[in-house]
Amino acid sequence: MKAWVLEGSRPLCGAIRAAGAKNAVLPMMAAAILSDRPVVLRRAPRLRDVRTMTGLLRRLGACVEHSGDELIVDAGRINGWSAPWAAVRRMRAGFCVLGPLLARFGRAVVPLPGGCRLGDRPIDLHLAGLRALGAQIEIQSGCVIAAARRLRGAGVMMSGRFGPSVTGTAQLLCAAVAAEGETTIRGAAREPEIVDLARLLSAMGAKIEGAGEATIRIEGVAGLGGAEHRVIADRIEAATFLFAAAVTGGDVLVEDADPAHLEAPLAALTAAGCRVEVRRSGIRLVGPSGAAAGFSHIPEPSCGTIRVEPVGAPTGLPGSAGHGNRMGAPARFPGSVGDVPRMGATAGLPGSAESDFERAGGVVRNWAGGRLAPVSIGTRPYPGFPTDLQAPWTALMAVAAGRSRIVDEVFPQRFAHAAELRRLGAMIRVEGNAAEVVGPARLEGAPVRATDLRAGAALVLAALAARGRTTIFGVAHIERGYERLAEKLRSLGAQLAVESALPRNSVQIGLP
Ligand code: EPU
Repeated sequence: MKAWVLEGSRPLCGAIRAAGAKNAVLPMMAAAILSDRPVVLRRAPRLRDVRTMTGLLRRLGACVEHSGDELIVDAGRINGWSAPWAAVRRMRAGFCVLGPLLARFGRAVVPLPGGCRLGDRPIDLHLAGLRALGAQIEIQSGCVIAAARRLRGAGVMMSGRFGPSVTGTAQLLCAAVAAEGETTIRGAAREPEIVDLARLLSAMGAKIEGAGEATIRIEGVAGLGGAEHRVIADRIEAATFLFAAAVTGGDVLVEDADPAHLEAPLAALTAAGCRVEVRRSGIRLVGPSGAAAGFSHIPEPSCGTIRVEPVGAPTGLPGSAGHGNRMGAPARFPGSVGDVPRMGATAGLPGSAESDFERAGGVVRNWAGGRLAPVSIGTRPYPGFPTDLQAPWTALMAVAAGRSRIVDEVFPQRFAHAAELRRLGAMIRVEGNAAEVVGPARLEGAPVRATDLRAGAALVLAALAARGRTTIFGVAHIERGYERLAEKLRSLGAQLAVESALPRNSVQIGLP
């Protein structure tokens, strides 16, 4: 069995470069179906999910080449409109080919993506949207069978009980750009990945207004051409590295990370006592020394590899406001985390800082004597705190000095990581869509299993903070969405060995 073996309790220091965004590149690869000309994607990450999408597109007849960080999808010779079950079963983003196939060929057969570790993940919004554009849709033998002579523009609602659907919005964008007439998507997802997809589609000749806002207007065009596009940096990967610096009391610069895409996580990190610097080259985070595992003996990190540059122009970001002023309230806080403090009171805070934070929009800022401070968060659609960072944040809060509450409003059942974090010593209680975390836990290495991509990231963070050896199984999940994570962590000083065939019974549980 493949596994990662980590020896934790070492501060991570240095600089790494963010990869291209997984959740941007996957719908873009599907969007390339809309054209018979090549679509060139730069900064395309080398990920398992990208390989799965490549396989899916090749099965449809597309030519896909990934060389370095350049990915070329040439759908000129696509000769099928039926997506293979194996690819969509492995990766929900495979379902994104439905809209483009329908728009280009007037028909599509795509397997239902089914449930997953994050809980129930319906596709009702995707189907209602496509039906509104005039598609006939049936479900037969576990497949969505869709047909439309020519899609027609219409008004579509993309928000459901848990907010807007991200891939649903991508699906509808791809169908509407080739529909006859105007489409208005209300309740659209505002994620940067949607804005980036709209940029690619515009470069291909689409007419789109309002991407990044809740209402998007699309004027259908007769045909789309090829395009070249540079994919945005992966905000979730970037934040994961910042969290790694925070949890180990380290000092990491994530080059190319875009602070505008990370307002809520940066505010939460600042509130937890980290120093966040926004630079022209990226984002640097200095964690409270002694953050890892609640140990006080961790030496001050020596971070000679960080290049010193002029700090970028003030952005109004919470991170920059927090720099050099550990007790200060941020200048601005993304409003959508605003409901959290009702759920996350933390004892013993300097009153004014706490109430400033609460007034500013929601995170309780704390001073925890050189350790991470507990910060309660609630996940929300963008620009709120991303659900994809909920599990990693839970790992951070396990070593924070106090009690925090973590609510997932987007995927209420996304707590599979809690049980595995408990194996490492984290004190977490899950009830409904919320986890109560009590820290600082004295994390100790143990064998654990990644149950999904972000749960895997949470385990890596906890393992970095834990004393002793952690063996993480199920790393294929992690490789779905983090490009060369083991290598990048090692370059920052993590002690991490990749075991390609670890016998199941070889894992030693280090009991005294
Ligand atoms: N929902 C519905 N009906 C639908 C679609 C979604 O009720 O038709 C619900 C979902 O059950 C969920 C909420 O709406 O409660 C949001 O789901 P969404 O459709 O936005 O999720 P997604 O598009 O399937 C993308 C990302 C996920 C990320 C979510 C939320 C991609 C390829 N995936 O999924 O990324 O968690 O948005 O931001 O873009 C990950 O990278 O680890 C990951 C899971």
